[in-house]
Amino acid sequence: MEKAERLKKLPTYVFAKLDELKARERRKGVDLIDLGMGNPNIFPPQDVIDEVIEALKDPETHRYPSFPGTHDLRVAIANWCKREYGFKVDPDLETIVLIGSKEGLIHFAFAFINPGDTTLVPMPAYPAHFNGTILAGGTPISLPATESNGYMPDLDDINPDVAKKAKMLILSYPTNPTTAFATKEYFKKAVAFAKKYKLILLHDFAYAELYFEGNKPISMLEIPEAKDVCIEFHTCSKTFGMAGWRVGFAVGNRELIGALRQIKTNLDYGLFMGAQKAAAKALAHEDEYMEKMRKTYKERRDILVDGLNSLGWKIEKPKGTMYVWAPVPKGYNCAEFSTLLLEKTGVVVAPGTAFGDEGEGYVRIALVDTKERIIEAVERLKKANIRFA
Ligand SMILES: Cc1ncc(COP(=O)(O)O)c(C=O)c1O
Repeated sequence: MEKAERLKKLPTYVFAKLDELKARERRKGVDLIDLGMGNPNIFPPQDVIDEVIEALKDPETHRYPSFPGTHDLRVAIANWCKREYGFKVDPDLETIVLIGSKEGLIHFAFAFINPGDTTLVPMPAYPAHFNGTILAGGTPISLPATESNGYMPDLDDINPDVAKKAKMLILSYPTNPTTAFATKEYFKKAVAFAKKYKLILLHDFAYAELYFEGNKPISMLEIPEAKDVCIEFHTCSKTFGMAGWRVGFAVGNRELIGALRQIKTNLDYGLFMGAQKAAAKALAHEDEYMEKMRKTYKERRDILVDGLNSLGWKIEKPKGTMYVWAPVPKGYNCAEFSTLLLEKTGVVVAPGTAFGDEGEGYVRIALVDTKERIIEAVERLKKANIRFA
């Protein structure tokens, strides 16, 4: 069977290879500590669980859901944006509920990218940021985001002809996998750049609430006039430990939201009503739940990074996200090194190339197991006598 060109053009899915290796180790009876995929293990707020249980008893919950999101949830989204980041959106025209933000990111590309179009994407990146463009028939142009530029490509370095031809600039700060945080100045430049070259500015704000030491990240929509060009994607997956529920949303420019709604009305029937009701509860949460969640991740970060540094690995503490971006010791590439860790210790980490070729030289370690298991992971690495320098 001949697959469509769009599938053939996708880069190798590195996590599929990792899954094979994991399955092989499990068959041998190895107790894996899986810090590979960014799959949160934080329990959602109790009232969110209660809400979905209650919703299940209502016959209306089991019918096709409300599209593009219940009015209650869209109002909760608008209130959340105002309360957490200080910007206003119209719940009726400037919000859309998604079946997870990944779904929205990919379908947004289908709403705007024609074959031959290009998008500008800092790399390494969360794969949906470049795969959406590829699936829609376009070509993502890599803006290398490396340690030397603070993982924030200088927009002034982009060739004006390339910028003029592009359709979209796709940013995401704090960044998965590099954990970089953008400054307000950088976002101001991004808005001005998008306006100058008539680009759509997509900002993925998945890690909005995962920050430490009071470094609260800013939303792109806090920048004056950003709404003229910007759509911003949010998710309940990380903030409320609800990855399995598939609740995401996008806010911003009404034309961009309108086009996403148009494509989605032709693809899906919206998000399960029970999840929509519960998500409205989640977004009404004031700081206490989120403070606890941040404390949990910070504790894991400190145990992991302090532990690994004590073994001679030189790793910086991230200011936020649920990841540690760690340089691979000399003499290995990232695939070799992550395979070595897996085979010698049963600790799973993601090779940096899972996020594009620019991720070579790094592995990403996700803080997605308990502190006890993270302590054990460090112990296993210590016993294995791996060279980290
Ligand atoms: C940057 C980024 N955006 C979006 C997502 C997907 O989130 P969701 O669960 O809402 O689809 C992830 C998941 O890891 C992510 O890292």
